[in-house]
Amino acid sequence: MTRLRFLPAAGIALILPGMAAAQDSFQLAQGKGCFNCHDVTGPKEAPSFKGIAMHNKGREDAAARLAEALKTGKDGHKKFRGSDAELQQLIAYILATP
Ligand code: HEC
Repeated sequence: MTRLRFLPAAGIALILPGMAAAQDSFQLAQGKGCFNCHDVTGPKEAPSFKGIAMHNKGREDAAARLAEALKTGKDGHKKFRGSDAELQQLIAYILATP
């Protein structure tokens, strides 16, 4: 009986780090100026992160392709300034936009 009481707590412990990561990524994107042109869900001059996520759904090479595009600026995108780790985090965040 008492063992059951640990289950909800374990569930919360799993959810919170995910929320914290999303919050960090949002702030990272903000700090990098991504939201000058993008919005998370709504329309702006650039496609929304949600739109990009939808557009790339099911594409296995999406993360690699987007990272390459942002890093080199070869598709005409403003070149990303920051570390590879930051870029990976942002791409993962964008592609996971619900
Ligand atoms: C100066 C405006 C501007 C800023 C700042 C900007 N973007 Fe974009 N972004 C665009 C536009 C316009 C597009 C759509 C055209 C294109 O793909 O280049 C786009 C497209 C994208 C795409 C899809 C690219 C593709 O090939 O499908 C991703 C991913 C992206 N942006 C991520 C970011 C991230 C992350 C940042 C912050 C580091 C950022 N953008 C900052 C204007 C901007």
